[in-house]
Amino acid sequence: MKSYLKHGRLPDAVVVEGPLAGGHLGFKMEDILEVRCPSLKEIVKEVKEFICSIESEYIAKIPVIAAGGIRTKEDMEELLQVGADGFQLASLFVPTIECDVHENFKQAYVKATDEDEMIIKSPVGMPARAIRTDFLMDSLTNGCTVNKCYKCMPGCNPGAIPYCISQGLINAAEGRDGLIFSGSRLGGINKISTVREVIKTLLGR
Ligand SMILES: Cc1cc2nc3c(=O)[nH]c(=O)nc-3n(C[C@H](O)[C@H](O)[C@H](O)COP(=O)(O)O)c2cc1C
Repeated sequence: MKSYLKHGRLPDAVVVEGPLAGGHLGFKMEDILEVRCPSLKEIVKEVKEFICSIESEYIAKIPVIAAGGIRTKEDMEELLQVGADGFQLASLFVPTIECDVHENFKQAYVKATDEDEMIIKSPVGMPARAIRTDFLMDSLTNGCTVNKCYKCMPGCNPGAIPYCISQGLINAAEGRDGLIFSGSRLGGINKISTVREVIKTLLGR
């Protein structure tokens, strides 16, 4: 918040990503693996209290957006109770007709069970959640072979990373075996649908 105030600004909104979110996660690896992270609900409650104090001090409105593992109307209702003003959802919308990702990427979501969820250490040094793929399993078992360095990250040493993040993401985006980030609880996502259907189901209509 201080960095905003320094520029005479306040955030337009705050997104709170809990431990069940997809991609890079802002928690310690051991806390995620040992299921010691606070829940999204607990974090939203705490952030909301802080944001409310800022709102009264600066006479402003800063919506708190909850994200990570939201799959049902009940999930949203619980978060509304602790002060969420909105929701950011990703995984439910990946296997939809409207999503412009490669068909194979969508199918990986449809086929994945809860057991295919992996927490990996990303070359950026943070834990990340992804779907188990041969690409990830091979690099974890045999080490990483970088055929082409994209120089995507200053300071990345291609000889000391678990896998090449650019190669993994490019492969997956182009429909090959690669790195597929995803949120948790994929077991309930079993078909390609439409954005309309996802929203209708979420709202229980
Ligand atoms: C494929 C994928 C890529 C993501 N990439 C980013 C990212 O680059 N930066 C970020 O802050 N969050 C990223 N996320 C997290 C989402 O923005 C979102 O907050 C989170 O996944 C919501 O949880 P859900 O997927 O369970 O709905 C990504 C999520 C997915 C599924």
